[in-house]
Amino acid sequence: MMKKVITYGTFDLLHYGHILLLQRAKAFGDHLTVALSTDDFNRLKGKAAYFSYEKRKMMLEAIKYVDEVIPETCWEQKASDIQRLGISVFVMGNDWEGKFDELRSQCEVIYLARTPDISTTSIKSGLQHSL
Ligand code: CTP
Repeated sequence: MMKKVITYGTFDLLHYGHILLLQRAKAFGDHLTVALSTDDFNRLKGKAAYFSYEKRKMMLEAIKYVDEVIPETCWEQKASDIQRLGISVFVMGNDWEGKFDELRSQCEVIYLARTPDISTTSIKSGLQHSL
């Protein structure tokens, strides 16, 4: 049977930290779903993505580790996604360490070490300072 993995995030200004997270997430199974924060949900989180949901989705779908992209529209959808999609492994970067442990009753929960020295925020501020 196929082992399905899921991860959540905004993935704006796609960078190598994102790619390494997706590569490591996919290695836990055979199929990787990315639940991608919609523009409305980003606003709710206080984040403003540079690229629209559709553009971020298109770029994620072009990555060989990603099998499916679904919208993330609220904090509460994780349990129902896991149930509906038959997910075995939930993966997040360790900036979220401990935050989703309640999902352990449904599937394996893994927090991966973030890749050092790169983030969407640092790209944005680096560009601002280089102008
Ligand atoms: N991630 C990672 N290593 C990095 C940056 C991000 O492993 N250097 C992971 C995050 O932990 C998360 C996923 O990539 O699981 C998506 O992260 P996201 O918040 O979209 O990217 P950031 O670059 O952290 O964006 P921001 O600066 O806006 O927080």
